[in-house]
Amino acid sequence: MKKRSAVLFSTILVTSGLYFAPAPLPGQSVDAAQTEVNPSSKAFDQKVIARINAERMYQDVYHLTETIGPRVTGTEEEQQAAEYIKQVLASYGYKVETQEFSIPDKMVGDLHTSDQQEVLVNIPAGSGDTPAAGITAQVFDGGFGREADFTAEAAGKIALISRGEGLAFKQKVDNALAAGAIGVLIYNNVDQPGPLNPSLGGGEVAIPVGGITKESGEVLLKDIVAQNKTITLNVKRIANAKSQNIVATRKPQKGKDHEIVHVSAHFDSVPFAKGASDNASGTAVALELARVLKSYPIDKELRFVFVGAEEIGLVGSQHYVSQLSEEEIGRSIANFNMDMVGTSWENATAIYMNTLDGKANIVTEAAQAAAERIGTPSELIVYQRGASDHVSFYDAGIPAVNFIRREPGTAALEPYYHTPLDTIEHVSAERLKEVGDLVGAAVYSVVRK
Ligand code: BES
Ligand code: ZN
Repeated sequence: MKKRSAVLFSTILVTSGLYFAPAPLPGQSVDAAQTEVNPSSKAFDQKVIARINAERMYQDVYHLTETIGPRVTGTEEEQQAAEYIKQVLASYGYKVETQEFSIPDKMVGDLHTSDQQEVLVNIPAGSGDTPAAGITAQVFDGGFGREADFTAEAAGKIALISRGEGLAFKQKVDNALAAGAIGVLIYNNVDQPGPLNPSLGGGEVAIPVGGITKESGEVLLKDIVAQNKTITLNVKRIANAKSQNIVATRKPQKGKDHEIVHVSAHFDSVPFAKGASDNASGTAVALELARVLKSYPIDKELRFVFVGAEEIGLVGSQHYVSQLSEEEIGRSIANFNMDMVGTSWENATAIYMNTLDGKANIVTEAAQAAAERIGTPSELIVYQRGASDHVSFYDAGIPAVNFIRREPGTAALEPYYHTPLDTIEHVSAERLKEVGDLVGAAVYSVVRK
């Protein structure tokens, strides 16, 4: 048998000028372990973790984020990512299924001042649109968007409103509309890179709405409102947009009616973010698990689900579970969902296992046991939280966990989350490897013969 481990673990990675070698593995030679007559669980773990390749995962993150870039739901880039994932899976020998589905109309827009300055803007779902040439108007300082912040002066203008004061974005917009504003811009009240994403919570409004940064809001107040200049806001609707899931399935060689384990990760990103941590990281780990687990005998069915349209409300994973028959749902015993598993943010030293009820299940238990066997360095924490694709599996009655790196105690996410700073510079190959080992060993412990 070939000695693979020496080659793999001497790999040196180059990441933005930083050189490091992946952490050495606990345990010994793969070959010795594999030749045991009655191999222990530890030996099974070694079969998996000796082959999980940090560099390969890092390269997948690179391709998704630097070669493709932001993979906003329904865009060509999201589709390119889907094609890439498909190709990689096919190269591992999988027969791959593409599930296409419609997504709600998407709003996109741009914003310019009369001085021809471009202002980055995010248009939320549910915003109204504008005529093709956009709307050009003066700007009204709408304070925090409370009813009392508006006067008759607001009529016919675009209201500029600050985030905050406990008012929902939708309420601010409704107040502006009632005062006769013809558009709304909401600016952040904290400095965050990238324009604000002011969710209207599923509601719809008749006028165009955009989110901008705190800095942009302040510049507009000073240069436009105070000087009675105008801005032009252009919002259009992209109708009939599509997204897709990519699914690779491995069935055991013998028998039928096997139990099913679903490993999932979403590959779309939010606008203006390359989505390296969220969620090229989980995608890369899932691809690597598909590669490694391809070779070993299993007695359960294993499905790798690469999910589109997560960021607009878990639309892809809802579609995926909606396509499962009652019978398949009955056979489904676990969902391992990976979302934001590779951040290099130093405080994110824990691997959270988010479940919808905050309780342990087959997935957390398999992971906990695997962590103990392989000596996972990070603390594992079971935590109650939705907000990723495990919700869709849970809603279908399938025990589900979202693996996500956070700061222990505070449960804080990295500061780059959903910003243009979510780039590969803030992804750690070692941490990808750690989660790959953990989830790989755990999944294998559930599906192996
Ligand atoms: N990658 C995040 C996962 C996440 C989980 C973020 C828990 C924060 C807390 C995911 O892509 C995301 O951004 N989720 C959305 C909600 C989702 C239903 C669109 C969020 O948390 O804003
Ligand atoms: Zn996200």
